[in-house]
Amino acid sequence: MKKLNVIALCGSLRKDSYNRKLLQIAKKIATDAGADVTEFDLRELNLPMYDGDVEAQGFPESVQKLRRAAESADVFLFATPEYNASTSGALKNAIDWLSRAPKMLPGKVATVFGATTGMSGTVRGQMHLREILADTGLLLLPKPVVLIRFAGTAFTPDEQFTDQKTHASLKELIEKTLKFSGAVHYT
Ligand SMILES: Cc1cc2nc3c(=O)[nH]c(=O)nc-3n(C[C@H](O)[C@H](O)[C@H](O)COP(=O)(O)O)c2cc1C
Repeated sequence: MKKLNVIALCGSLRKDSYNRKLLQIAKKIATDAGADVTEFDLRELNLPMYDGDVEAQGFPESVQKLRRAAESADVFLFATPEYNASTSGALKNAIDWLSRAPKMLPGKVATVFGATTGMSGTVRGQMHLREILADTGLLLLPKPVVLIRFAGTAFTPDEQFTDQKTHASLKELIEKTLKFSGAVHYT
């Protein structure tokens, strides 16, 4: 069976981001399940804000880099923080660039998960992100929903979850998403 090509993106830019820690665990689960996983660090990539005039001059190099990788991807993993009840501007901007013609996302599979320091665990951010992703034509499984609440106490010093149930739930989400991608022939 073909090895699945997975792209991992974290919506938080900061170095000590809880979502970055969460994404590393998700990447390991996907790699252990046999996928090829590539993370793009949005701070390093430094995509310009989407601007139609810039696009009209041709996609900037950083945008091309992400779009080239997305073209051959089967699955996208999105770790999202919750900013004012939504996803982050950085992640939305990356998705906006990927959604432009020729479109890189329709018929591919994605999943979302997220961590907040508060009690919502990104439930509102994930709902917004799911709406945005559905509009791009990405396909997502509805469940399980992985919410990391009180992220300040959710990780051990060696960057694992303090609660094993959280790991089991993320593993179920990633493994089901990879299986779903293998089963989908949408476009
Ligand atoms: C602009 C801004 C808005 C935020 N809004 C929310 C929010 O709506 N809900 C929430 O639970 N946490 C909110 N937070 C707190 C974040 O959950 C917290 O900063 C978290 O650590 C961000 O993720 P990161 O650790 O991956 O950077 C907000 C933080 C910022 C900077």
